[in-house]
Amino acid sequence: MNDVKKEDKSAAAHGKCMVSRRQFLLYSGASAAAVSTVSISLFPGTSEAKTMKAKVLGYPRKLIAKLSDLKDHQPVNFNYPNDGPNTSCMVVKMGNVKSGGGIGAKSDVVAFSYLCTHQGGPMQGTYKAVEDQRVLGQCPLHLSTYDLRRHGIIVSGQAYQSIPQVLLELEGDNIYAVGMMGLLFGHRENLMES
Ligand code: FES
Repeated sequence: MNDVKKEDKSAAAHGKCMVSRRQFLLYSGASAAAVSTVSISLFPGTSEAKTMKAKVLGYPRKLIAKLSDLKDHQPVNFNYPNDGPNTSCMVVKMGNVKSGGGIGAKSDVVAFSYLCTHQGGPMQGTYKAVEDQRVLGQCPLHLSTYDLRRHGIIVSGQAYQSIPQVLLELEGDNIYAVGMMGLLFGHRENLMES
């Protein structure tokens, strides 16, 4: 009987240890990320069944611009998902050209990272609209160019990954960044500061 109690205490201590470690992993270096709390059931149907609170790390929902303030082909800069290194992004209204992930009445408002996925070349000022083409590039380092109508896929140059696209939501006139497709240059995880 005593042995059983000892095991229970040991399991409880182990459980606490795991929760602490998990919390450490969730929080370390991720101060700007959104954290929500959910209830989870552990060991259902067993004598150790219990409900615990778990903290889930997610992308922040960040107000980045007003739709009514955007002018065709004039990018507006912001940082996402936090203000750490290599988080420079832009949102742009691409003159009524419907685009993957686009929001607004014409699905022509999109947002992307400014950092080239090859070696992090800064692409501020390289947005171009030529006829129905909408690109970011050429990268000043090795000339990579990305198609912003098609989720930022590589068109030419040294890079081999799409430029990360910021997922957007429109609520009234407010444009929110809510997530990201693709890994930001210089990050092991987008939600961790480099
Ligand atoms: S860093 Fe952009 S193409 Fe090399």
